Amino acid sequence: MRFSAGERPFSTYALFTFFVRGFLGQPQLEDALIGMDLVIIPAGVPRKPGMTRDDLFNINAGIVKTLCEAIAKCCPKAIANFISNPVNSTVPIAAEVFKSAGTYDPKRLLGVTMLNVVRANTFVAEVLGVDPRDVDVPVVGGHAGITILPLLSQIKPPCSFTPKEIEYLTDRIQNGGTEVVEAKAGAGSATLTMAYAAVKFADACLHALRGDAGIIECAYVASQVAELPFFASKVRLGRGGVEEILPLGPLNDSERESLEKAKKELAASIEKGISFIRKSVVDDSSSRK
Ligand code: 2OP
Repeated sequence: MRFSAGERPFSTYALFTFFVRGFLGQPQLEDALIGMDLVIIPAGVPRKPGMTRDDLFNINAGIVKTLCEAIAKCCPKAIANFISNPVNSTVPIAAEVFKSAGTYDPKRLLGVTMLNVVRANTFVAEVLGVDPRDVDVPVVGGHAGITILPLLSQIKPPCSFTPKEIEYLTDRIQNGGTEVVEAKAGAGSATLTMAYAAVKFADACLHALRGDAGIIECAYVASQVAELPFFASKVRLGRGGVEEILPLGPLNDSERESLEKAKKELAASIEKGISFIRKSVVDDSSSRK
């Protein structure tokens, strides 16, 4: 789906009127992308009970590669939001495709980890008995299991939790997606959370593109905050995409320990994405010979 001029109005938002058009399948992919400023990619297969996000790699990696090649061709300056799993690997895949096409701009490539923030704020608010809109929990690292690192020590407004609450909240936030996959028993994954988080994050990107100041959200981006090529943390969004990557801030002992574990898994997932593209470049060139 894309928003463009010339169709029936769907809804109005601030100063803009949005129009909705549908496109179907690969033959219409380029038509869907030409001229876009923001592309949101949730494409791919969802998990079934018992699967990790990484189990989706073999199918979703190829889908993401195809979509990125089309973005590089049709809207190389667009901000691209990736939700397709495993996000920890699909964002590095996208970076490699854009590099090969000569269109890579790390500021415009963002993995959507808003799902983790939405879950963190919801579960924490339940424990505190407040409205989720009134809490802000930074969630850093990545988007799978132990790479999802809620920084409960940095919650705003400041408050403290018992060790039992921290254990419960961390587990719930890291496994919120899996909880839904199990509950749906093979009928899909957390599509509503995904849609809600995608809209919230897209809205932040659109405000930034419009020039609004002070837009700060967590996202999985090319980064140096954790000595890894990609890492999720708070970023400041602007017209050019990611304009500033904010430091992680003070971590407590247990968060530091969790960060080290997360980094190991993230490094492997990033490497897996990069190797997939390097191998497919070799395979493509030998099949042309
Ligand atoms: C989730 O966290 C689908 O990755 C998505 O639910």
